[in-house]
Amino acid sequence: MIYIERKERFSAAHQLYNPNWSEEQNDAVFGKCANKNFHGHNFTLIVTVKGEIDPDTGFVMNLVDLKKIIQKEVIAKVDHANLNHDVDFMRGKFASTEVLAEEFWKILAPSIAKHGCELHRIRLEETINNAVEYFG
Ligand code: NI
Repeated sequence: MIYIERKERFSAAHQLYNPNWSEEQNDAVFGKCANKNFHGHNFTLIVTVKGEIDPDTGFVMNLVDLKKIIQKEVIAKVDHANLNHDVDFMRGKFASTEVLAEEFWKILAPSIAKHGCELHRIRLEETINNAVEYFG
């Protein structure tokens, strides 16, 4: 089994809050991230795919195909978007990096499987210090 990865970047705004809580409770848990005027991050998304080497190409998966899938199915929907309001697959969900990573997995796994390999990991870096990894 060989692992390949592709890195993409996007910028997006969000607000972290629980609509069932009071403003005080939201501020206590989410701090500055509960700011009702939103705030932004420059995210880095790293998608890792595993598979066997294709004897006809020497590739696990053509990285150009992987790039196109990530760009079209994920980046185009979240880049310069408000994750709380603009993104169909985030509607009604917490706009956290954890939830975003899970949703990216659901979108990307079937498309990658069509290329005869398997999605292994979604790594989503929200800041240089904070990151989430999801293995499905
Ligand atoms: Ni934030």
